[in-house]
Amino acid sequence: MSRSYDVIVAGLGAMGSATAYQLARRGARVLGLDRFRPPHAHGSSHGESRIIREAYFEDPAYVPLVQRAYELWHALEDEAGETLLRTSGVLTVGTLESEAVEGAIRSAELHGLAYHRLNAQAVRQRYPAFRPDDAMVGVFEPRAGVLDPERCVGAQLRLAAARGAELRTGEPMLRWRQSGDAVVVETRDARYSAGALVLALGPWLPETVPALPLRVERQVVFWFRPRTPAEFAPERCPAFLFSPPGGRLFYGVPDLGTGVKAAIHHGGETGPLHQLSPEVRPDDVRPVRELLARYLPDLEGEPLRGVVCRYTNTPSHRFLLDRHPEQQRVWLVSPCSGHGFKFASVVGEIAADLATGQPPRFDLSAFCLAAV
Ligand code: BEZ
Repeated sequence: MSRSYDVIVAGLGAMGSATAYQLARRGARVLGLDRFRPPHAHGSSHGESRIIREAYFEDPAYVPLVQRAYELWHALEDEAGETLLRTSGVLTVGTLESEAVEGAIRSAELHGLAYHRLNAQAVRQRYPAFRPDDAMVGVFEPRAGVLDPERCVGAQLRLAAARGAELRTGEPMLRWRQSGDAVVVETRDARYSAGALVLALGPWLPETVPALPLRVERQVVFWFRPRTPAEFAPERCPAFLFSPPGGRLFYGVPDLGTGVKAAIHHGGETGPLHQLSPEVRPDDVRPVRELLARYLPDLEGEPLRGVVCRYTNTPSHRFLLDRHPEQQRVWLVSPCSGHGFKFASVVGEIAADLATGQPPRFDLSAFCLAAV
């Protein structure tokens, strides 16, 4: 005999925990499964901070989504009774023609978002931690900030469980198949059935559904001790995205108590998850230090520590939110190409809609399998 649910959510990281929480809020019978004990550091929902920003350089189409994500993060904070989002502002620095600066301004103008444009000298004066080249400008977004990923995942799981979701951690999904009107999931311990299955497996999705056009990318993030601590305190230093001419976008978060976080966006090794080292190697930090030496020189030096994160990339780097190509009751929710955490709250709401047969509240055509 299998136990039965309305929805099974496989993977309880950012997206899966948000989906379980949103389903439980609606009174659905939910089972959540995770191979580890989330919040954990094996996937891509860890690392103490994630930037949330509204003037979305990647595409203005993300703005309504991130605006709903803000509402849902604040609602989660209210229900959890804890602060999950810290408004630090975000400064995007690059030439006016760079995708990051041009795109942030385009999204801000199109959606009427508050922002300030600063020339390089004004950036250096206002934020002495940053040393942009003269040809660069800064776009400051005051409403942007930083989410605490471990606490977000923890709060979503705690509140999902409090509303009746059954969360089974340390229990990987071994097999799954659609069988008539149900999806059957087997683990080492039991067999479960449900009306729908949400695969929110992050970097485990490519090996679970090998036909998908996904690549897992190894990314290493570091924390540095500032030589001038006051300049890197969140009161003086926003989160930042730097787009060096001809180089890779890098980003960071002010010192929230454990050092200044900094990392390069993309450009990491790709391959099957089990072949990507979870350990930080001595040479991982070199390209980050080179960029810091030029643009944030008071952070130069050996990092305090580093941690490996995994991006699950689609070819276009857009999100994938769609039905499984062959299994009508199975939903693919999560590959976010390294920029998804901030959206987890709204992705959970969308996934809960999809899995319960409700029409989604957003146009998802850009995120379907055929479009990514
Ligand atoms: C993000 O937090 O979304 C992000 C950070 C750095 C580069 C691109 C995206």
